[in-house]
Amino acid sequence: MIEDKFLKINNIKIISFLKKFDLPIYIYNYKKIIFNLYKIKKLKFYVFFSIKSNNNVFLLKIILNTVKKFDIVSINELKTLLLINKFKPYIIFSSCGKSLSELIIAVNFQIFCINIESLQELFKLYFICLKKKNISLMIRINPNIDAKTNKKITTGTKLDKFGILLKNLLQCILFCNLSKLPIIGYDFHLGSQITSLIPIKKLFKFIKKLIFYIPQKNIDIGGGLGIDYYESKSIIKFNNYYKYVLKLKNYYKLNIKIIIELGRFFFGNCCIILCKSNYLKYNNYNKISILNTSMNDNVRPSMYNSYHKIESNNFGKKIKNFFGSICESSDKLINKKQIRILNNSLIIMFSCGSYCKVMSNNYNSKLKIFDLIIYKNKLKIIFKKEKINYLIKNNV
Ligand code: LLP
Repeated sequence: MIEDKFLKINNIKIISFLKKFDLPIYIYNYKKIIFNLYKIKKLKFYVFFSIKSNNNVFLLKIILNTVKKFDIVSINELKTLLLINKFKPYIIFSSCGKSLSELIIAVNFQIFCINIESLQELFKLYFICLKKKNISLMIRINPNIDAKTNKKITTGTKLDKFGILLKNLLQCILFCNLSKLPIIGYDFHLGSQITSLIPIKKLFKFIKKLIFYIPQKNIDIGGGLGIDYYESKSIIKFNNYYKYVLKLKNYYKLNIKIIIELGRFFFGNCCIILCKSNYLKYNNYNKISILNTSMNDNVRPSMYNSYHKIESNNFGKKIKNFFGSICESSDKLINKKQIRILNNSLIIMFSCGSYCKVMSNNYNSKLKIFDLIIYKNKLKIIFKKEKINYLIKNNV
């Protein structure tokens, strides 16, 4: 329950800064980030941060000073890192559909590794490397394992576009051997928001069967560990998941180094959207609330039917249905229970630190909103709200 007047995040009263910033705003919690980083640092694996989940420069600098390794899916992510940092971090280029120019840049920068996910990418790389350039690569295999997660973020089944099918693997390995392209490992990203141990068990069984053909030392098991969007439901805990990975590695006697590419675990649960109910209205059957945040700030509910817990001050009418203010019927939150609110109540939407700001957009000419962080008991702006000029400045 939230009391508007007294609501505090890390000892800062929200009311004290409401006048300074237009709602909605994202608010990150630095203490929670440090807590997650502490857990990640304790892992006995090579952890790469997936920039696609959050590319805020302030947050990237935290990763540059701690984890120092990144999984990128476009060359612009590499360029961002080079722009904000003097030294070249460890980078795995792990996207689907890499273009020739992207591969050339990745090779020129001699990044740590390119994860090749199709024969076509491999052939392009071969021609680039003919000019005596060396690069290490991992082969992304499609293991045809269902990650048992949301269908829209599943990547490891044969119906998905990702990875090289088993039937093409030998051809691929042979081609690399003949053309002296060094394979340093194999990659298997099964999908995102995984909340069960079964897919990881199936994956290790699959790797065991394959290990004769893929004797290389690195196995990249991708990212995908789910976070608790309910903030009460107990999904697999981070430590248990990775203890299980170690157990499987030992059980199958695999002499491999494990690489993981984690995205949402870093910041997902470290950020809220603070917004307001614009007003309450009645449609035929229900009282509904129209919020001042919309699918342009967080598209996950409309796109994946994803749940983000919301809370309010608990005064006023009981409301179950919450909508954004974009002109689309799908601009709706998935809400599990009724919440008491008044016309202008403050609303907190939880777990908005990953795949929210990065997927936000200007639909309906909405402007991208402020990102703030509670940093060492002070409030710091880490993304300035866009100005109206932004909407027209690239039009010619
Ligand atoms: N590695 C690769 C190759 C990936 O494609 C992804 C995510 C990750 C790692 C990181 O996965 P994570 O640990 O964050 O689950 N927009 C969707 C998620 C799409 C995930 C894309 N790839 C969402 O909002 O749930």
